[in-house]
Amino acid sequence: MKKIIVTGGCGYIGSQTIIELLKHTEYEVISIDNLVNSAETVLQRIKLIAGKEVINYKVDLCDYNTTRQVFQTNQDVVGVIHFAALKSVGDSVSQPVRYYHNNIESLLNVIKCCQEFHIDNFIFSSSCSVYGNVASLPVKEETSLSPVVSPYAHTKLMAEQMLRFIADQATMNFILLRYFNPVGGDTSGMNGEDPVNPPSNLIPVITQTAAGIREKMTVFGNDYPTRDGSCIRDYIHVIDIADAHIKAMNRLVDKKNKDNYEIYNLGTGEGVSVFEAIKAFEEVTGVSLNYEVSPRRPGDVASIYSDSTKANIELGWKPAYSIKEMMSTAWKWQLYINSISK
Ligand code: NAD
Ligand code: WQD
Repeated sequence: MKKIIVTGGCGYIGSQTIIELLKHTEYEVISIDNLVNSAETVLQRIKLIAGKEVINYKVDLCDYNTTRQVFQTNQDVVGVIHFAALKSVGDSVSQPVRYYHNNIESLLNVIKCCQEFHIDNFIFSSSCSVYGNVASLPVKEETSLSPVVSPYAHTKLMAEQMLRFIADQATMNFILLRYFNPVGGDTSGMNGEDPVNPPSNLIPVITQTAAGIREKMTVFGNDYPTRDGSCIRDYIHVIDIADAHIKAMNRLVDKKNKDNYEIYNLGTGEGVSVFEAIKAFEEVTGVSLNYEVSPRRPGDVASIYSDSTKANIELGWKPAYSIKEMMSTAWKWQLYINSISK
């Protein structure tokens, strides 16, 4: 069995990707996650859903020596999927040094280990935030990047640029996946986003409001130049994101890549407004959301959505889940959290 390392495997997207890997592939998977933004209880849920165990090494990837030990113990690894990073845009503005240190140092340590142990296949979690405030829509991979607006986005841009130069020198192959807005949870309802801090992203705010954890939610702005005045985003189901990682890893392992540095957008290509997201949630769950409209949130762009044709053609990837399924699985997960925390 081919073994792969998933860093950040206890987090939201990492855990779902492990579930899909265990369910649908022959890869053996190990995780490295220091649990800075997750909990090891996810491993039990992975076992329940996928029927297989996964080991997590509780290691800070910024600590080179312990990271190297994990690689030394697992020398038969064919590839790495590198999810581990701090991801809160707001926290990155207030704690930029922490973000630069964590996201860059961890990446460099993992790359160093890959080079030492001859692991040639590397998938990197990038983000639509590298595009900055784009002028033309939909966003294609070749759309020129505008200045980034947060230290978080800057860590992703720096990482992309570093990997570009590393790819020029090394024997390694890189696929960088730029996710738009990953949402939703496992269809079983037993896995999803479980933020350690109160969430600021739209979908967890919606489900927490519906669950009564928040009294009401806020729509940030109804005066944007969009079809209903609220912001438009490209929400994409986390299982579709996970599936793209499997296709990307297979592409590298099977040596089907055309270049040793490839970038793909991952979105549905369909913009959904905040009001449309609320309506989809209400329709699918039958729960009414208590919301009010406030002024715009600083830093938000009016509209951004992806052109993911390149991933469709080259990875053979096509999103399978609709906005309603994103909402229903997010809601199932919220109900599951509520039931186990009682
Ligand atoms: P997450 O916070 O749920 O998962 C990241 C995991 O990495 C966490 O479990 C955390 O404990 C771990 N981690 C962080 N720093 C570490 C370190 N130094 N050593 C070991 N483990 C460490 O985040 P997520 O939503 O699953 O995001 C996964 C990746 O996708 C991140 O790189 C993120 O920047 C990127 N991304 C996320 C989104 C999104 O909206 N969720 C969008 C675009 C890109
Ligand atoms: C979506 C829309 C809000 C909360 C973030 C990161 C980005 C990427 C994806 C990592 C916006 C509106 C939200 C609320 C609202 N992550 N909203 N009320 O900002 O598009 O993207 O996640 O790489 O880098 O910035 O996502 O979910 O915060 O907001 O009206 O309570 O929902 O204004 O229009 P965002 P979001």
